[in-house]
Amino acid sequence: MTANRRSDGDEFEHRLLLYLTSFTGETFLYVKKIKNGIWVCKTAKNTWILKEFPTKEKIENQIYLTKLLFINGFHWTYRFHPVHAKKICFFEDRIFGLIEFIKKGSSFSYQTKNNRIQAIKLLSKFHEKTQLFANEFSTKLSFFNQIEKWETRLNDFISNFPQLKKFIPQYYIEVYVEWAKWSLHMLKQNKNYFNQQAKCVIHGDVAHHNFIYNFDQQLFLIDFDLIHLGSPVIDYLQFTNRILPYIEWSHHELQQMETIKDLLNHKAFVIALIYPTDVLREWNRFIRSKNKKNKDQSLAYLKEITFNQYEQRKSFANEMIKRI
Ligand SMILES: Nc1ncnc2c1ncn2[C@@H]1O[C@H](COP(=O)(O)OP(=O)(O)O)[C@@H](O)[C@H]1O
Ligand SMILES: [Mg+2]
Repeated sequence: MTANRRSDGDEFEHRLLLYLTSFTGETFLYVKKIKNGIWVCKTAKNTWILKEFPTKEKIENQIYLTKLLFINGFHWTYRFHPVHAKKICFFEDRIFGLIEFIKKGSSFSYQTKNNRIQAIKLLSKFHEKTQLFANEFSTKLSFFNQIEKWETRLNDFISNFPQLKKFIPQYYIEVYVEWAKWSLHMLKQNKNYFNQQAKCVIHGDVAHHNFIYNFDQQLFLIDFDLIHLGSPVIDYLQFTNRILPYIEWSHHELQQMETIKDLLNHKAFVIALIYPTDVLREWNRFIRSKNKKNKDQSLAYLKEITFNQYEQRKSFANEMIKRI
């Protein structure tokens, strides 16, 4: 989330330790960065995660959301430190939140069927609860606009053509753009679909790394940086797009999944599944990135999703078109 800052080294961590001690009134013994914007911190009794937030509004919304989730009986996420009921950490012109540490059990990925089933169940519970209090966020969060987001993604991909041509044969570029344009065109004719369903706070980033199994093998949902108001369908669409490569683009497998199988009866959901969101997103990110090492590493993945999975994706798209 945040750029790697020179001040995030040992000295910064030492100043943070002193600050957290005075901020909470508890003696912090240890602070260690685990990735950009995330630190693990320890007191004699507890472990905490410290997370940096870009704005005061973002952290306030997340404190409020997690509080309402717990009040309404959703316990499969973290709470913020009780001190946040009164104040937020402002330290060296940066904003931080202390959150409960979830002790990890086995790792989570979309590879196994059981994990996918657990993730859908957890998402449904999340939406069931956020629907109860979505109105509380009507002035705090914006509506998620799926069509606008995908239009921007396609336009970025098109502007990147001159660089993309060095990596992707013209034929593939044309097919991916054609799928994206067709899907967007059809979605615009069905644009009410994403606004029709019950209004919830949607998670907005249902990637595998935002699910954690705790030591008790209970699945937890974390990272509310991309929450919006919107229909739960938006989270399920993203979830489906993310799992498709793991189920080898099998529409049979999708038809057996609770919640998703019902959504496959909705024309707009099926049309949206033809938009090649992962391919466009990842290539745009690749072109944007300035880090040569990261770029070299991501090329293998990009080739996998763009070329190796192309035939599977094409048969899947044909199956979807038959349903429309
Ligand atoms: N409360 C927590 N308990 C345990 N691990 C966490 C917790 N919060 C974050 N993490 C770890 O840090 C990673 C990044 O945190 P996240 O909130 O998802 O931030 P980002 O915006 O960087 O994705 C997570 O994928 C997880 O591995
Ligand atoms: Mg995350």
